[in-house]
Amino acid sequence: MSEIIFVAKERVKVEARVAASPETVRKYTALGYSVIVETGAGISSCMPDAAYEAAGAEIAGTDAARKADIILRVRRPIKHDAYKKGAIMLAIFDPHGAEDEIIALAKAKITGFSMEFMPRITRAQTMDVLSSQASLSGYQAVIDAAEVYNRVIPMMMTAAGTVPAAKIFVMGAGVAGLQAIATARRLGAVVTANDVRAAVKEQVVSLGAKFIAVEDEEFRTAETVAGYAKEMSKKYQEKQAALIAQHISRQDIVITTALIPGRPAPRLITRSMLETMQLGSVLVDLAVEQGGNVEGAVADRIIEVNGIKIVGYANVPGRIAATASQLYARNLYAFLEKMTDRKARRLAINFEDELVKATLIIHDGKIVHSALSSLCNSKEEAVSCKKQQAVTIEEMNHDGGF
Ligand code: NAI
Repeated sequence: MSEIIFVAKERVKVEARVAASPETVRKYTALGYSVIVETGAGISSCMPDAAYEAAGAEIAGTDAARKADIILRVRRPIKHDAYKKGAIMLAIFDPHGAEDEIIALAKAKITGFSMEFMPRITRAQTMDVLSSQASLSGYQAVIDAAEVYNRVIPMMMTAAGTVPAAKIFVMGAGVAGLQAIATARRLGAVVTANDVRAAVKEQVVSLGAKFIAVEDEEFRTAETVAGYAKEMSKKYQEKQAALIAQHISRQDIVITTALIPGRPAPRLITRSMLETMQLGSVLVDLAVEQGGNVEGAVADRIIEVNGIKIVGYANVPGRIAATASQLYARNLYAFLEKMTDRKARRLAINFEDELVKATLIIHDGKIVHSALSSLCNSKEEAVSCKKQQAVTIEEMNHDGGF
C-alpha cells in the first residue's frame, strides 16, 4: 500500500499559504504516494479543492491527518496529538520561543524537518524556502511601498510637465534586497542600496543601482564563511549611521531588509534620521518580525510619524500567497523527492545525508538538532534529549540559525 501524504490547512489566521499545489500533488502521485488534502487548504492561495482532486488528491477533513505517514505544512501545528506516531512532518517550525510546542511534538513521536534550516548550498537551492520566500518579500515590499506612496514612481513626461522618478534606497542586499532593487528598477525608480558585505556590491551595480556603504577594513571582512553578515562594531555602526543620515534625507522610499542570523535585526534608521525625510516618504521594514531596522516600526501596522509612513507587515510572502505557496510547495517536493526511493516508490530517509542532518529537529521522541540545545536546557524534561543530540554544529553545513 502506498504511503499517505497529508496536506494540512494552516490554522493560524495570518497564514494564507499552503504546503502543496496541484502541480506538486500530481508529482507526489507519480512518485508513488497517495495524497490527501485537507478541505479548503489551498483556497487562500487560489488553489481550490477541485484542482487538487483533478491532480489526483483525495479531499478530507482534519481527522484524515491521523492516517498520514507524511504531513506537509507551512507552519508548525497547533495541535500535537493529531498525528500518527512516527509521522514525518515538513514545515517551517520556527522553534525559537516555542519550547513547549517543540517538546510536545517530539513526545508525540513526530519526525520533524524544519525547512528554514536547509543549508544554503548549490545542491539544496531548489529546497531553499528562505530564498524562495525572501525573494517574494523583496518584490512585495516595493509594491507595498508604492501602494501607500502618494506619488508616482517612474519619471513621467506629460503635457503638464515632467514628474521626477522616485528615489528608492534598499538597505540590506541579500535575497530580499536584491529582488527589491530589481523590482524598484522595473518600476522606474532611481535606486541606491547598502550592505555590510563587500561581495554584494557587484550584484547591486549589475542590477542598475548605486552602492552606498562605508567601505573600510571592517567592511571588507564582514562576511562569514557561510555568506552571512557579522554584527558590526560600534565604531562601524556610527560611521554607517552618519552616512545613512545624510543619504536618507533625499530618499522618497526606503526598504530595509537587514538581518544577522541568530541576532536581533540591526537598528539602521533612528527616529531623528526619519524626521529629516520629506513629507509623504515611505519606509517598509521587512525585518520588523526580528525587531525591526526602523525605530518605531510595528508588526502588521502602518505607523505615521510626522507624515512619514512606516510599513511593518508581518509574513510578507503570505500577502502574495498564491505565488508564495507555488514556490514553497516546489521546495518541499524537491526535498521529499530526494528522500524517496523511486524504484520502491516509498520514503527512504538517509539519516546520514547532510541536508537531512541539517533540517531534522525532532526524531524518535527526542530533540536532535544542536541549534535547539538551549531549548533543551530550558526544560527539565528535555535535558536527556540534549545528551542524545544526533547532530553537532560542526557536522551541520549551516551557519547557526534562527
Ligand atoms: P539575511 O536575510 O540574513 O540578511 C539580509 C541582508 O542584510 C544581507 O545581505 C546582510 O549582509 C545584510 N545586513 C546585515 N547587517 C546589515 C547592516 N548593518 N547594514 C546593511 N545590511 C546589513 O541574508 P540572506 O538574504 O538570507 O542571504 C545571505 C547570504 O546567503 C547571501 O550571501 C546570499 O547570496 C547567500 N545565499 C546563498 C544561497 C545558495 O548558495 N544556495 C541561497 C540563498 C542565499
